[in-house]
Amino acid sequence: MICCRRMLAVVVWGLALAVAGCDRLDMYDQPRYEPQEPSDFFADGQSSRPEVAGTIARGSLHDDLPFHTGKDSGQEVSEIPEAAYRAIFDRNPHSFGNKFDKAEPALRKALLTRGRERYDIYCSVCHGLTGDGDGMIVRRGFSKPPSYHDERLKQSPNGHYFAVITDGFGAMVSYANRIETADRWAIVAYVRALQLSQDAKLEDVEAKEQAALTNPPQAPATGPADPHGKEAP
Ligand code: HEC
Repeated sequence: MICCRRMLAVVVWGLALAVAGCDRLDMYDQPRYEPQEPSDFFADGQSSRPEVAGTIARGSLHDDLPFHTGKDSGQEVSEIPEAAYRAIFDRNPHSFGNKFDKAEPALRKALLTRGRERYDIYCSVCHGLTGDGDGMIVRRGFSKPPSYHDERLKQSPNGHYFAVITDGFGAMVSYANRIETADRWAIVAYVRALQLSQDAKLEDVEAKEQAALTNPPQAPATGPADPHGKEAP
């Protein structure tokens, strides 16, 4: 009998705790409107209020049109906008002496490094690591993009590349929701470097280096091919 009484006490305690628990739920489960739920409080019958016309969320004022659209007065821009350099600078100001200078070689290199990293991640799968358009997905059957080394694309302004990444182009989807604006410009800068890498002229190299390129050192005519003097198999 004593045993049963104890059990009853435990059950009663349990119930008391459960009821107390329910009280706590009140705060959590307070009256509120679910998204899209109607309301008779406002004249238009909606519980959510529409945005006040002209409202712009903090950080979403895109007034630098060349930076955000790649166009200036409807024309595709030719320059990489300054804001793209600034985004790289702002990530790590002290490594650039805390002084913003778009022309500083270290900053320009950092832009290219970032662009290379993003390009290799997002674009190389189709466009290939050198931009020939033979990336792994293409080798597995996806539509082949044009090579970046085609004359038409070499002549296209930077704004065109930015617009293609932002809006998509034919079979290529938009990458705007995956690659932030400044990074899209860094990629454009890197694509330019890729184009240069496949189209360098002798005059692009310093005069003192040119001779070495035109007359490469000859391999010794005699002597063992193997440093240990053994015959190659
Ligand atoms: C899934 C494959 C794929 C990926 C990833 C991809 N592209 Fe493309 N891209 C294409 C294809 C396919 C075309 C050709 C589209 C057409 O002409 O219909 C193309 C075309 C282009 C063009 C040429 C536009 C023109 O004027 O002919 C550029 C520039 C370009 N892509 C840049 C990029 C950059 C930069 C990235 C990375 C951010 C990227 N693409 C990622 C598939 C891809």
